[in-house]
Order: sequence, then C-alpha cells, then structure tokens
Amino acid sequence: MARRRKKLEAGSWKLEAGTQQQPPPAAQAAPPPAPQGPPRNWPPVADRTLIGKSIKRLDGPDKAQGKAKYTYDIIRPGMLYGRLLGSPHAHARIKGIDLSAAEKLAGVKAVLALKDPAGEGANGKAFYQGDEIAAVAATTEEIAEDAVRLIKVEYEPLQALATAAQAMSADAPAVFPKGNVSQQSLQQEGDVEAALKSAAHIVEGTYSTQVQTHTSLETHGGICEWEGEKLTAWVSTQAVHGARDGIAGSLKIPQTNVRVITDYMGGGFGSKLGFDYQVVVCARLAKLANAPVKLMLNRKEEHLVTGNRPSAYAKVRAGVDAKGKLVAFDAETWGTGGAGAGAAFRVPYPIYVFPSRRQRHRDAYTNAGPQRAFRAPGHPQASFITEVVLDELADKLRLDPLELRMRNVLSATDPSQEDPSRQWRKYFPMGAEKIGWSKRHPTGDPASGPIKRGMGCAGNTWGGAGSRATRANCQILPDGSVLARIGTQDIGTGTRTLVAIVAAETMGLPLTGVKAEIGDTNYPFAPGSGGSVTVASVSATMRIACENARDELFAKVAPALGVEPSALAAKDGRIQVKDAPSKGMTWREACKLLGVQPISADGAFGPGLSSTGTSGVQFADVEVDIETGVTRVKRIVCVQDCGTIMDKLTAESQVYGGIIMGLGFALYENRILDRNTARMVNPNMEWYLLPGMSDIPEIDITLVDQPDRGPVGLGEPPVISTAAAVANAVANAIGVRVRKLPLSPDAILQALNEERTGGTL
Ligand code: MOS
Repeated sequence: MARRRKKLEAGSWKLEAGTQQQPPPAAQAAPPPAPQGPPRNWPPVADRTLIGKSIKRLDGPDKAQGKAKYTYDIIRPGMLYGRLLGSPHAHARIKGIDLSAAEKLAGVKAVLALKDPAGEGANGKAFYQGDEIAAVAATTEEIAEDAVRLIKVEYEPLQALATAAQAMSADAPAVFPKGNVSQQSLQQEGDVEAALKSAAHIVEGTYSTQVQTHTSLETHGGICEWEGEKLTAWVSTQAVHGARDGIAGSLKIPQTNVRVITDYMGGGFGSKLGFDYQVVVCARLAKLANAPVKLMLNRKEEHLVTGNRPSAYAKVRAGVDAKGKLVAFDAETWGTGGAGAGAAFRVPYPIYVFPSRRQRHRDAYTNAGPQRAFRAPGHPQASFITEVVLDELADKLRLDPLELRMRNVLSATDPSQEDPSRQWRKYFPMGAEKIGWSKRHPTGDPASGPIKRGMGCAGNTWGGAGSRATRANCQILPDGSVLARIGTQDIGTGTRTLVAIVAAETMGLPLTGVKAEIGDTNYPFAPGSGGSVTVASVSATMRIACENARDELFAKVAPALGVEPSALAAKDGRIQVKDAPSKGMTWREACKLLGVQPISADGAFGPGLSSTGTSGVQFADVEVDIETGVTRVKRIVCVQDCGTIMDKLTAESQVYGGIIMGLGFALYENRILDRNTARMVNPNMEWYLLPGMSDIPEIDITLVDQPDRGPVGLGEPPVISTAAAVANAVANAIGVRVRKLPLSPDAILQALNEERTGGTL
C-alpha cells in the first residue's frame, strides 16, 4: 500500500502562535540555490498595465465552447478503455482472483490482477471499499465494464472499522498491523491546568467535523501511450513533474522516458497532488495491450479512493479571564483519515493568543479510503473548533465575540511595525462594518416566528510562499512573438493567464502579444500546485526569465539607438529610451534586429519578487428555520489579503470558490459510512450533498491589495473560515450551540430539542 501512501501530512504547520504555515512537503521541493542575476523587481505600481487588473481567463472562450481538452477529453488513435475492479468489502482477505473469463471476452485486450491472494499484508487484503483488485482494458467502455464483472474474486469478508469510535474501542478487532490507533502526540506551551484554575470562565465541550470528499468535477486518472520505452501520459494532476517522477518510480523506468501533459484540469483541491495509482495501472495496461489506454475513475470510485478531508474530534476545556483575555486551551483530539492515514490538525487555531495551550492527539485508522491533502489541510477543522469555543467564551463573558477576537488576535509584536501578513485587527472591523454587525442581537434571535437570524465571524491564515526550485523559460522570436514556458499546471485557478500577464507586462505588450505554454514536463520545473505556492513561484520566476530575455533584446537594440541597454524600456509595444520616449522603435522592428536567431532566456526563482503569509476574515449572516432546521446563508462578507494581486478577477474567483466549498463543509457535505459494513452509503452526487446554485448566498469580497509585497498564494485561505463563521451565526440565530458539522437540519433540530428537554432526549 506504500504506493498510495504518498500523502501529505495534514496540518503540518507549527503550533507557535503566528508562525506561518508551511506548504505541504511535496510543494517544498529541495531548493537548489538560485543562480545570481541582476536584481529584479516588479514595475512601479503606476506603470503596471496588466498586473492587478481584472483580466478574464485567456482560455475562458475555449472552455466555454468545449474546445479546451481536459484529460478526460483526450482521445488517441486506437485508444482502449480501462476499468478497475474495486473491493466491494471494506475489509476482506483476497483468497482467489480468476481473470480467465474476462480475458476470453471479445474486445478485451489486457487484464491485470492488482492483488496477490498469496501476498502478505495489503497485497493479499482489501483495507477499504474500492481498494483496487484488478484492472482491464478493452475496445469500448461497455466491454471493459462487462469484463470487470467477469472477474471472479473469492473474498473472505472481515470485520471492518467504520468510525473512529469503533477503532478506538477496547474490544475492536485488530485490523491494522501497527494498531488501530496511533500513539498519542503532545504539543504544549505553558501550564494549562494552572491557567484554567485562574480563569474567570471556562467552556467545556466536544466538537467535531465530518469527513469531506474532494469531489473534483473531473475525476482522477489519465491516458497512457507508449512509443517503445517512452511513455506519454495525459494526467489529471496538480503536479506534472511530480506525476512524472511518481510514475517513473513505480514503473522503475527513467524519468527521462516519461512525459506528463496536463493542458486543462477539472479540480483537485489537494487530491491530485500526489501521483495516482490509477495512472500507473493505466500505463501497465497500455504496455500489455500495446495500445493507448484511458483510465479515468467514475464518481463512485472518486468518492471512495481518491482521498478526503479527515474527520476531527476535540474534547476541549478553554478559559478566559474577567477582562476578556484568553488564558488556556486544552484539547484531547482525534480523528480518522481512513486506512492507515493520519488525521492531524492543530488547535487552538494559531491566530489567537492562548498563553497556555495543550493538544493531545491520536489518529484512529478505519476501513475507508485514505485521506489526502485537502484545501488548507487541517485548517477548516481547527478553525471551526477554535472559533466556536471563542464564541462560547464570549457568551460566558457577555462580551461581543468580535470584541473578544480584537482583544486576543495576533498582531505585530511591535505595534509600530506593521506586519502585512497579520492584519486581522484591521480586517475584523472592516468586515463588521460591511455585514452590519452593529445590528447583531446578543444571542438567540428574539423575533417571533420560526425564522431566526444571526451573524458570526472567523479569521484565517496561510503561508503561500514560492518554491525556490522553480525555473522558467522565455523566448523572443524574430517576428516579435513571445513564448513563455513553464512546467506548472492550471488546476482551474487561471495559471495560464497569470503566465501571460507576467510576460506581457514585462515586454510592454498586450496579452495577445505573448503565448503562455504550461502543463508539460518538457517545460522547466515548477512545483506541484499545492500549498497555494503556484502564484508566488510562477510569477516571480517567469518575471525573471522574461526580464532576462528582454534585456538580451535591449542589448541588440541599444546600439541602433545609440544608448546603453540600461537606458531602455519596453512599453506600449515599443522599445524606447526611458528619458526620451519618442526615441525608439516598435517591438516588431526591434525583434527584426535578431535576424534569424531567437532569444531564449531562463529564469530561476528569486525570493525578492514574492512574499508569504496571508490574513483574512469572514462574516456570515444566516437565517435558520427552527421548525425545519434548515439554515440559509444570506450573506458572506470576506476581507482577505494575498500580497500583490496579479489578476483581480481570478483572485476573486479563488475566494468565491473557497467560500462555496466552505459552505459545503458547513452545511451539506458528509461522507457517510454504514456503521456495520464501513461501505459508503452516499457515493454519488445525489446524496453526497454539495451546495447548488440556489444555496449560494451573496458573497461580498474585499481583496486588500498590497502592491509592493509581491504575490502570495490564495487558493487555500478562503476555504478556512466559512464553516466557523456560519456555525457561529447559526448559534447566534437560534440561541443554541451545535458543536458538530455539518449543520444539517437534523443536527439543528436535535440541538434545539436537547435544549428544550434539558439534554435528556
Ligand atoms: Mo493543496 S490541499 O495543498 O493542493
């Protein structure tokens, strides 16, 4: 199973209050020292023609017209269709696999067993529903499906663990070789017991969040085509280079023999950051069949085997003093990331100062598909737990919860030193103003009638630094065209447009004057798009490559204009003398001076061009019907920074997407396993509830531009605070606390009933 364990540790950030979270390890590729070049920087704000403007995605029309080919859309000549046979049992010994009937079916070109009945450990067992047992490739999808049904597997079903509680119970069967529960880890600062004794008010409770699946619209998988020993793989991945290395490693072939292409990608959210087992199976089928094979998962498999956000449980005791200063946070936490996978998260959420804090954590292993990094791993869980506790402490103090946050949120240690990555003290009042916080009633909407209204808020933080390993290439051709190439990938965030913006800005050209090429391991190395590192890595590095290329052009043009190259500027489609703009020539005339020899310049990441650390806040305004338990979010207000905004439109789009995903976590999404069989009862998009168009509230986004900081990644921060803000708004509306997600109608009705009956229902 090690091949599927290439997971990222969720919540790998440090506990230290205010330390910037690190991106997942995969995003921090070993940083070779960046070669030294001339000092590079962004143009002065006043000179920027594209950076920071609202620019539509260059590939928007292609996507809207269906011309953009996602991995799922790739069709190769003679291509076969692959299907997997996954275990129907969440826990079983594989006693026999008989492929013969499948092999005999007309149209079947390759069949593979992926488990070994004689094998040890995971090789001879299924540890979760969907665990891959066998694979086929056939001339049509229908034949492949039929062939899968003809494979005879003899299973010995074993007792399965469906929940963390089952895994942790004393009489649980021993399912996992290293035990069903991890050793307890301990993080602590100060003396929590003494601090709790000194507290004026204490809140005690158990808080929990559910398992959420990534539910990418494009499922996982790829198309593999061999030419002799060389493999071309079109993969739906967040990391073309990472996928290449993973595939080559699994197949034990040189990395130089694998090319990975990802032109367009339909969502990954962390689940496509590690390389995928399916693609390796696909490559093996293609080799065996001697034909290209397409193997993309179906929706059910997608829910079962491609990762999830692990559950989180926290038994908390937290205290505050009479003046509203937080004093202690003590939590015993656990959660399940499925079969052998961790469920780490860190509480208290590190934007609030609890001088004494302790977390004791255990991972419970269950018979479910292993977790993977999921958009801000660990953060939404930790945010929900911490922000809800904060509101409960505020209620005990009879203090406005916003005021409690203002008194305890991190800010620059030295107030005279403004830290642009810790702006919560500024953003909370901004958000409060926008949502109309002054109209918030203290708690429990006193209005008559079943519809109760309430407001809540929460903050977030993230790192988003660029990777020093990033490289880029820029070419200027004699006809004046510009080619910007980098082996990054557009995971739906607008990276192709970002590359073009940087190249065009640097050359003083319109966007149409440059061509951005990405999503191919034939282009220079860029890190996987995880940990929100893409914008900082790609913009900084592409800027340097383009400046290097532009300087070579300046060197060609300068003699013709009788000036030093350093006197030149590229502006408005011209190369001209900075101090005498009328002296110059058009971009095309300048490029003609190249003769037949194009310019090709590389760039290596330079740290001065980007930054790290974001801060943001979100406010929710909700209505809850206390007769039906249905919550409707009316409005979300968000104030968020991300350093220099490169493209306002796509940055806002990230925030919309994050908030909508956070809304799903707050109200709807829930992977439900049958408690006896550990099989998923809602592995589809009908009963795995996602927000639909009519569920989406008005979303009011204020992006705080910090134009001199350099860009900072934004993919993850906006998903963090939504559920916490909504949960606090719901409690404010109904006057009763729901300490678990999702805030489904039944959870809300149950909480209301418990309140009415004194908790005895
Ligand atoms: Mo992200 S969860 O780091 O792809």
